[in-house]
Amino acid sequence: MKIILFQSQSLKLSSKDLAFLKSFKLEFDNDFVKLIKDDKFLLTGMYAKKVALKVLSGGKRLRPILLYLAASMTGYNNRKKIKRLGFVIELIHIASLMHDDVMDNADMRRGKKTVSYENGNSIAILTGDYLYSLAYRIALEFEKPIPEIVSIAASHLAEGQMEETRLSGNFFLSFSDYIRIIYNKTAVMFECAIKIGSILGNNASDLRNLSRFGRYLGYSFQITDDILDYIGSSAMLGKPVLSDLAEGKATMPLIAARTCSEPQERSNMKRLWDKKEDIQKIESWVIKNNGIALAKSVCLSYIKKADSLLEDIKDCYEKELLIKIANRSIFREK
Ligand code: FPP
Ligand code: MG
Repeated sequence: MKIILFQSQSLKLSSKDLAFLKSFKLEFDNDFVKLIKDDKFLLTGMYAKKVALKVLSGGKRLRPILLYLAASMTGYNNRKKIKRLGFVIELIHIASLMHDDVMDNADMRRGKKTVSYENGNSIAILTGDYLYSLAYRIALEFEKPIPEIVSIAASHLAEGQMEETRLSGNFFLSFSDYIRIIYNKTAVMFECAIKIGSILGNNASDLRNLSRFGRYLGYSFQITDDILDYIGSSAMLGKPVLSDLAEGKATMPLIAARTCSEPQERSNMKRLWDKKEDIQKIESWVIKNNGIALAKSVCLSYIKKADSLLEDIKDCYEKELLIKIANRSIFREK
């Protein structure tokens, strides 16, 4: 069956999909909590466990789901091992968010006060360090090349964050710099989750296309995140909106608006940007100059590219769900 058929079918999640996603998350979350509770290497005891447990809840578990679907699609069925590798990816993801919250001075994440806000930066940094080290300990249970792939992905994450920090404040950030940053800070982990899932399945012919699928989905996911920072609701997102503008981060909507705007207005906006003033005015200018619509069309083009990479992969339930999840990720509200 050609991918086009999937696209013309409803991308609505069926009751079977919803039941699968619900039970996956329930099982994953239960064992995730147990992993921390039972870890004998958390030397400072109850306090550290309490902090670590606080940050585990609330995520969508998207990366572990992608890993699971890629493994199943390529014929691997050991649920226990798939789950442990899902822990690796999710631990790195959560730890990087904790560190990101320290760097952004953020108060809220996933609808709760951040650890850096409630317990201070040192505790947030150290809890994140603990979660990273636990992730690598679990990754080492797996054969080559999985631990190395995970470690390289984490290096990219640091690189992406570094580049974003270095280039922040630049109103004229180029599209290629932006894409490189979001590849490193976001798409790499999507690519990594799907890649290591496919490696478990040991299906070399699908590995390349699936990994690239992960990369394009990651681009689209981050651009959607950046769009939601403009037009989302902080209640739905569980974090403040317009934080990118407040932090001086030029993202896809602004980059797109720049290309459509009048030169005079653009220089006025640059002046406001440099003075870190009136971010609402910059927001209105981005919207008026089609920044959101254009950013959405960039997302859509990445998702189309991602879909086309699955054309030659054998049809199965997991492939269908993967396509639905990717396409729906653009329309999410949180
Ligand atoms: C959130 O993005 C942050 C990230 C996706 C990556 C953060 C990465 C690090 C802190 C480096 C990690 C280093 C290693 C070695 C693993 P965002 O700020 O755009 O989103 P937000 O609005 O949710 O904060
Ligand atoms: Mg942030």
